Amino acid sequence: MTKIISFEGFEYSGKSTQINLLRKYFKKNKIKSEFTREPGGIKDLEKIRKVIINSNFTNKSLILFFFACRFELISKIEAENQDKLYIFDRYFDSTYAYQGKDIKDKKIIKSLISLIAKNSIPKLTFYLDISKKSLLERKKNRSFQNKFDQIFLKQYERIKKNYHELIDAKIGSRKFIKINANKSPDIIHQEIISHIKKCKLI
Ligand code: TYD
Repeated sequence: MTKIISFEGFEYSGKSTQINLLRKYFKKNKIKSEFTREPGGIKDLEKIRKVIINSNFTNKSLILFFFACRFELISKIEAENQDKLYIFDRYFDSTYAYQGKDIKDKKIIKSLISLIAKNSIPKLTFYLDISKKSLLERKKNRSFQNKFDQIFLKQYERIKKNYHELIDAKIGSRKFIKINANKSPDIIHQEIISHIKKCKLI
């Protein structure tokens, strides 16, 4: 089984900051790891990433595109068969949260998870929880926006509800940890390290 830790949450939740802090920590402590992101992570998928996140595809097509990218990425990782820790910036939970618009779509997403990712279920997932108010404040200070940036705010409640469904659901033996994203980056980083240690991943 591949050792995976995934990071989830809204844009501006501080996900990237935490992933960068973890990268530095692993480097300093010589922990064998690889950092990747979705959609993307490998050269050809990075080209497709730009198209997907700026597209007007139908929701069902988006589900299939995200899972096609995911299948490529995890097939490569599983084939490597390496004893290292893979850190994912977004994974299948993002598809459930963002593209899980109704029961039918959620059913498709759940089937795809068990079809393609059953050997690559994360051991640990961190969800950085941010209020809409803080999100809007942080958003004011950033200039770049993609298509998802514009739509996700309108869908904040639905996406948040979907993330909470995942926190309550059991997928394999993974631990799904909700973190208050309003705390300082250093405190969150310490919290994350302590969970990783508790799960004996490092
Ligand atoms: P990005 O600007 O990289 O956002 P972030 O830095 O917060 O990850 O854009 C990625 C976008 O893709 C983000 O809005 C969420 C969306 N997305 C989905 O809707 N479904 C998915 O399965 C994945 C992996 C991403």
